[in-house]
Amino acid sequence: MYPLSNNSFVVVANRLPVDRAKDGSWQPSPGGLVTALAPVLEKHQGCWVGWPGNAGEHLEPFRTDSGVLLHPVTLTEADYELFYEGFSNATLWPLYHDLIVPPRFERSWWEAYREVNLKFAEAVAEVAAPSATVWVQDYQLQLVPGILRQIRPDLTIGFFLHIPFPGAELFRQLPWREELMRGLLGADLIGFHSVDNAQNFLALAAQVAGAAGSHIGQPDELEVEGEASIRQVTAKITAPDGRKVGVAAFPISIDSAETAKLSQHKGALRSRVGERTLILGVDRLDYTKGILQRLQAFEELLESEAIAPDEVVFVQIATPSRERIDHYRKTRYEVEAAVGRINGLYGEIGEPVVHYIHRPVPKPQLMGYYADADIMLVTPFKDGMNLVAKEYVACHDDGSGALVLSEFAGAAAELNDAYLCNPHDLESIKRQLLAAITDVRAGSESAQTRMQQLHDQVMTHDVDLWARSFLGALENHA
Ligand code: ADP
Ligand code: G6P
Repeated sequence: MYPLSNNSFVVVANRLPVDRAKDGSWQPSPGGLVTALAPVLEKHQGCWVGWPGNAGEHLEPFRTDSGVLLHPVTLTEADYELFYEGFSNATLWPLYHDLIVPPRFERSWWEAYREVNLKFAEAVAEVAAPSATVWVQDYQLQLVPGILRQIRPDLTIGFFLHIPFPGAELFRQLPWREELMRGLLGADLIGFHSVDNAQNFLALAAQVAGAAGSHIGQPDELEVEGEASIRQVTAKITAPDGRKVGVAAFPISIDSAETAKLSQHKGALRSRVGERTLILGVDRLDYTKGILQRLQAFEELLESEAIAPDEVVFVQIATPSRERIDHYRKTRYEVEAAVGRINGLYGEIGEPVVHYIHRPVPKPQLMGYYADADIMLVTPFKDGMNLVAKEYVACHDDGSGALVLSEFAGAAAELNDAYLCNPHDLESIKRQLLAAITDVRAGSESAQTRMQQLHDQVMTHDVDLWARSFLGALENHA
């Protein structure tokens, strides 16, 4: 139907931007990767290779309304269980998020990871034009650059990791560390969100790939530049086959102008909760996000009467995620128990103090909610970037609102005018939440200035800049 193999720009990610529900309807796929990449692909009119979100389903290529060509890859039920739920989300996800829960190392999961990476690489090889640029995304596909380098040496290959890259002492736990590292080194350029992540990778590349018998030297051109808060790192290292591989930090962002425009949908949430101070949390329901801890902090502030239940309301929107995996089930159970407990203790009939929604919300509605919220609580234990924080800031152009942000979110490097907290320390969350509530209620001028600075930062560092920086560096490198 669509001509294959004439695509000069191909993005490959585990997920397509749309997700096919069991009832056959299409909805936007969950997560920050899709939020960031969808506008980039629309602009470049590229081809997106990925999985349509339903195990076992085979689909032909098709175009989205905005002109992006989607090339679906079929994952079987076994792929779903072993590659997606297993190695990607019960081995790599916890390992790369600093062991918030223990990663599991299962040989059968690793075998499936290799096979599915091969499947994705072959799909790309089929649709990419001669000498095309291929941009491989995220932890699910770390072997794809290496496989593609072997089967299509004519391609220019970029790789971007959307989650943190761990320190050497953690990564080295992985039984298949050398092969994974060699897979990544198949790329011409490897991008991370932060300088720290890039430096973790550089340290490891020397240790791990060297240990595999194929020598990789120390980075031979390493530059770290910029202000302490927004540093850049660029380095070149020599891969086992002698090629130079670029390594750099590119902090991802959102389509800031479009997000700001959608804030015009404000009012709906406010009209439901009245004049109470409105605190909002928006996340995938993931144990990395610290949802339970922020509920506990809120509960303790109520308990100590630092805040009064008839003067505040907390709205937590938690989109379902990876629901069959044990630690996700447990987190959901604990979050829902906390919501029930807090409402039981402090809510009134028809006036709960916590509202909890466990389903996706359409984007315009969600951006309106951000605009209505007095305080945004973003408290991950560890997060590659966290686009929710940036979306909230983009929806406040007038100095209104306040962002309470974990110092362990990648976004904290750029958004350091937020109320930064340590999510492992309930007292720290409580302190910053209370400071934000007090400042917002008092209409504090310095708080407004801080929000305005955050807004300027997000508006001037959007996802288009991110994509141009990465693709520009890739072009220069190749
Ligand atoms: P992650 O990629 O780990 O999910 P991010 O904060 O980077 O975290 O990105 C989450 C994205 O998902 C944001 O664009 C946010 O707007 C979107 N999102 C989160 N929860 C919901 C929800 N309930 N409904 C719709 N979109 C959501
Ligand atoms: C994060 C990851 C993405 C992933 C998304 C949603 O943003 O970096 O790669 O797609 O979460 O998770 P899911 O498992 O539903 O794809």
